[in-house]
Amino acid sequence: MCGIVGYVGEKQAADILIEGLKKLEYRGYDSSGIAVFTKNGVVTEKSKGRLSMLESKLEKNGVPEGNVGIGHTRWATHGEPSDVNSHPHSYGRVTVVHNGIIENYLTLKNALIESGDVFVSETDTEVISHLIDRYYSGNPTEAIFAATARLEGSYALGVLFDDIPDRIFAVRKDSPLIVGLGKDENFIASDIPAILAHTRNYYIIEADEVAVLSKDEIRVYDVFGNEITDRKKLYTADWDIESAEKGGFPHFMLKEIFEQPSTLERAVFPHFVNGPEGILKEQIPSTDNIKRLVIVACGSAMNTGMLGKCVIEKLARVPVDVCIASEFRYSDPILNEGDVVIIISQSGETADSLAALRLAKERGIPVWAIVNVVGSSIAREADNTIYIWAGPEIAVATTKAYTSQVAVLYVLALRLALDRGRIDADRCRYYMDCMKKLPELAKQVLGDGYIKEYQRLASYNRNKHDYFIIGRGRDYALGCEGQMKIKEVSYMHCETYAAGELKHGTISLITEGVPCLAIGTDSTLFDKLAGNIKEIKARGGHILLLAKKGLAEGRDFYDDLIELPELDELFLPIIGAIPIQTYAYYTAVYRGCDVDKPRNLAKSVTVE
Ligand code: BG6
Repeated sequence: MCGIVGYVGEKQAADILIEGLKKLEYRGYDSSGIAVFTKNGVVTEKSKGRLSMLESKLEKNGVPEGNVGIGHTRWATHGEPSDVNSHPHSYGRVTVVHNGIIENYLTLKNALIESGDVFVSETDTEVISHLIDRYYSGNPTEAIFAATARLEGSYALGVLFDDIPDRIFAVRKDSPLIVGLGKDENFIASDIPAILAHTRNYYIIEADEVAVLSKDEIRVYDVFGNEITDRKKLYTADWDIESAEKGGFPHFMLKEIFEQPSTLERAVFPHFVNGPEGILKEQIPSTDNIKRLVIVACGSAMNTGMLGKCVIEKLARVPVDVCIASEFRYSDPILNEGDVVIIISQSGETADSLAALRLAKERGIPVWAIVNVVGSSIAREADNTIYIWAGPEIAVATTKAYTSQVAVLYVLALRLALDRGRIDADRCRYYMDCMKKLPELAKQVLGDGYIKEYQRLASYNRNKHDYFIIGRGRDYALGCEGQMKIKEVSYMHCETYAAGELKHGTISLITEGVPCLAIGTDSTLFDKLAGNIKEIKARGGHILLLAKKGLAEGRDFYDDLIELPELDELFLPIIGAIPIQTYAYYTAVYRGCDVDKPRNLAKSVTVE
């Protein structure tokens, strides 16, 4: 997602725009830019990198002076972060900033090029400036509606017309956009934080409404050109600025946990639009001759590989090794013809993972990447990149990126299984239908009843010193992420064991009241897990069972139970991650930890 702002009033627009963009950097920070009406027309300044890069550019080139302008901070989708791909984008008499994704931009772009238009960027947004200019023959709202009628996808737009220097225009569909009402000044913004310093009063622009702002009036028109301003509901923001950036959540981590229904949809659904035969075809043209996958990553990204290994080996029977990147790069790894190295990284900048990528490439081994940040180093240097489209993840402890990376590994498992004839198209469609349920089920385990239970359990255990997690197979892999979450945000010692392994070592640490999470989503292993749970109970351990619905029926060996919603058990770990993340979050809150910025940690470690 990106952030857009607009200002029309009596103050210097550039200052207001930059300040507003600073409040929206959580929506994306790959690049930024502003366009201001000066006495010599619209002047645009934009720069790759954080907002501070734009500020330095403005300092060097001079700040454009004027009282009307639009601004943008970018989370790259189409087109890598670069100066030329930064917004605003201009063509002819029109300048736009855009938040969203235009799915049919290539078709439109090719048609416009056919008819003589010249493009300078790789973005989908630039197409919009061309279209509005093409339709503009004096009526700006008509031109905007005509252009947006051609767009498929999502958009929130701020628009300037060269020959209308005292107004800004705004329109949206599926991307957020508000219009702020000030005194002798008015604003547009993707989100409330950008305008809170100036006004708390705003309209929400509905789909296919155009807002026209001058400094002393706002008019809103419907797609038929009727003015509907007096029908707009006036809202008053009661958030403080800090909580507004978090969308009303107390921490980015909780906000990102709650984003998972939509991030799971964005990670998975685009791969299914062309049925089984289309899965990952664009990103991975061929899987022929693959003998082994070597997944290399750090931290939680490595944990996704552990779960991915279970599923890929189960469905596709392709051997998968999972390596810690900092070990891989110094281990003189054995890599052979038929191996593919898969680097998994949210940031795409983790030094150890990037080094592992380069080592594999030096050995002539194909490298795929599963990444969140578009245009990041790992994304650019891999031979094939699969983006997870989770949007900016601000909290240091990953949540939505973890589940989206895992989901992409499941999608890859379907593709490999299909290509190797391990499953047929019908079976693949069944699995695809299971994965299409993930967003709804993610919403379910974030429902009030579940949240109250996570809070109760976190509160009950908040002063414990040690926490144990056990599981088998996929549940053990999920448990490894669980221990990472609990440790990194709540600073509580936590260890995960393959359930059958506990008795070979650390069961000596299980004493009266020691809390232990047992993860049981796999019915074929549940009886074995039950035996391990009883071993812990016999020593006074306090069991929280996270289980597939029904498996705990008639059993009495647990103290607390969280049942996951109905879903083919193969996919349950993806959903099971969410209760564990949320439990870890509340444990950290109750222990007074700095949830979004845990001590000693960094979001992406770009040094060794
Ligand atoms: C750590 C983060 O620093 O790096 C983890 O705290 C993350 O959340 C790990 O999993 C790897 O980072 P990335 O960006 O390569 O996934």
